Amino acid sequence: MPVTCLRKACVRPPEVAKIKIKIKIKSQIKSQIKSRGLAVLMFVIPTQRDFAYCRCSLPQTIGKPMENVIVITGGSRGIGAATALLAARQGYRICINYHADDQAAEAILSQVRALGAEAIAVRADVSVEDEIIQLFLRVDDELGPVTALVNNAGTIGQQSRVEDMSEFRLLNVMKTNVVGPMLCAKHALLRMARRHGGQGGAIVNVSSVAARLGSPNEYVDYAASKGALDTFTIGLAKEVAGEGVRVNGVRPGYIHTGFHALSGDPDRVSKLEPGLPMGRGGRPEEVAEAILWLLSDKASYATGSLIDLGGGR
Ligand SMILES: NC(=O)c1ccc[n+]([C@@H]2O[C@H](COP(=O)([O-])OP(=O)(O)OC[C@H]3O[C@@H](n4cnc5c(N)ncnc54)[C@H](OP(=O)(O)O)[C@@H]3O)[C@@H](O)[C@H]2O)c1
Repeated sequence: MPVTCLRKACVRPPEVAKIKIKIKIKSQIKSQIKSRGLAVLMFVIPTQRDFAYCRCSLPQTIGKPMENVIVITGGSRGIGAATALLAARQGYRICINYHADDQAAEAILSQVRALGAEAIAVRADVSVEDEIIQLFLRVDDELGPVTALVNNAGTIGQQSRVEDMSEFRLLNVMKTNVVGPMLCAKHALLRMARRHGGQGGAIVNVSSVAARLGSPNEYVDYAASKGALDTFTIGLAKEVAGEGVRVNGVRPGYIHTGFHALSGDPDRVSKLEPGLPMGRGGRPEEVAEAILWLLSDKASYATGSLIDLGGGR
């Protein structure tokens, strides 16, 4: 949102303060405000941190036309990249988030823009709230308020038994796969939910069939993190169902992406294909289709739903 605060405010959690503050408004939106006859600007500062994010009672269309704006965490590779490309074809404005690989992010950004989409790539670790805050502020400024969030970024450790898992590994998996999506949902809801002045929206959490299979002797920590994500999906869906926000999940099985290198076997899907019910692994595009459907108005009565895309597993 193209509104610049002259003063930051610090509010202790869980307080949400409504305070009047002096603001400076960019010249291109002054006329829009005038024409809408809005005289008083009331801001809600809903954070425990000293960061310059404000909600206001102005229509969110000010400065940017109201369009579908999607944030895809981990959008630079694999399932996230396929989702970005499909979203581009469907007319979304797109924020491709990534963690470390600038080249991969630039490559998918170019492809998305070549399809005619307005898009940005933003480096941010989803397990760090300050970085998420900066991510959403850039989206506000450069694309407009988010209407769709895909919590796709995830990680996994080397295949091993629980006895061999370090505290560092466990915390990393839980922070990235559970806390990260929760924090991203929090900052999306502050913009989407009607109780915060938003116009509604949709969230899709990318889970895994591992959530119901458990992945023994491989990565039960990863499976447990996805189980937690599913529970979060179900609970949050009910929490915000009356506020114009739908929350759903997809649970892919073995998908051909670079993800499996993290668990120690880049060729894992190809090796396991003969034993899979459909005789093949999935393609990222097949997951992207379900994600975009859940985000769309075609899924208008779906919330708290988990779609398995495991090829029969
Ligand atoms: N592939 C499968 O078989 C499979 C099956 C079930 C579920 N899933 C789930 O699907 C999701 C996507 O997996 P994928 O296979 O597409 O993975 P991938 O090809 O390895 O891509 C992972 C993406 O996530 C980003 N990322 C990783 N950690 C991040 C962090 N802390 N903050 C921000 N971005 C981060 C990566 O960015 P950088 O490249 O910059 O690090 C990359 O863009 C994951 O949640 C995974 O658990 C995958």
